[in-house]
Amino acid sequence: MKELDGKVAIVTGASKGIGAGIAKMFAASGAKVVVNYGSSQEGANRVVSEIESKGGSAMAVQGDVSQLDEVEKLFDTAVKVYGKVDVLVNNAGIYSFGPVETITKAQFLRHYEVNVLGPIFAIQQAVKAFGQSGGSIINIGSCATSLLDANTSLYTGTKGAIDVMTPSLAKELGPRKIRINSINPGATETEGAHAAGAIGTDWQLQLIEATPLRKFGQPEDIAPLAVFLASDASGWITGQVILASGGLR
Ligand SMILES: NC(=O)c1ccc[n+]([C@@H]2O[C@H](COP(=O)([O-])OP(=O)(O)OC[C@H]3O[C@@H](n4cnc5c(N)ncnc54)[C@H](OP(=O)(O)O)[C@@H]3O)[C@@H](O)[C@H]2O)c1
Repeated sequence: MKELDGKVAIVTGASKGIGAGIAKMFAASGAKVVVNYGSSQEGANRVVSEIESKGGSAMAVQGDVSQLDEVEKLFDTAVKVYGKVDVLVNNAGIYSFGPVETITKAQFLRHYEVNVLGPIFAIQQAVKAFGQSGGSIINIGSCATSLLDANTSLYTGTKGAIDVMTPSLAKELGPRKIRINSINPGATETEGAHAAGAIGTDWQLQLIEATPLRKFGQPEDIAPLAVFLASDASGWITGQVILASGGLR
């Protein structure tokens, strides 16, 4: 018997990075996994193929988390194909950094749309899709909210919203047997981190130096905690914001 046998999970933004790592470990733990993606169909298909080649079940479903109709379609497809939804991972996210003077309205709106409104839309659909026995929601926040570094105010603000929404929603949804927790990853090597130019820089070396366990995280360092929070083993845990950062804070 595996930890997630019989469960159906939706992982947003699972075509790459931390989301792909969680989707793969969920499937290896017995869950049927909906691999949501925004634009990288090829990446999502690769994740599904890898899962299927190891005997797991997964399907790729496109959908921009900031568009309500697309999030509705994501959940409808999951229920139609797999019959139910038990777990939601709000992982899809974007990040860019820079001095406060450089933040544009378009950049502001996109960060809050994807990183805050997207999880709200998905939580609304999860609440409807979860059955009588409830479910588990896992938000992916960021250690940015404990590092509070300069030049990160836009991104850190979006993740701060997730930090405080999580315990509030735990109180609201607990009576419906819905648990909600956040994982705040430390610096993690992903496609997004490469695209942001973080890898191979002095900044990366400084982050490793500031990490008590002295390495740059990998998606595989985050996924086991997501499996635990999705599983019945964490049935008494809700409203928690947990750093998975090798001690970086
Ligand atoms: N990497 C880090 O150091 C780090 C640290 C702390 C927290 N985090 C958080 O962890 C999460 C994943 O980060 P990552 O580094 O793995 O990022 P990544 O490699 O850039 O991957 C991001 C994923 O999110 C998807 N996505 C982006 N916008 C979307 C939208 N509007 N609708 C649906 N999917 C969308 C992307 O899909 P497509 O490419 O298909 O569009 C992709 O699958 C984010 O919430 C991030 O803030 C990352």
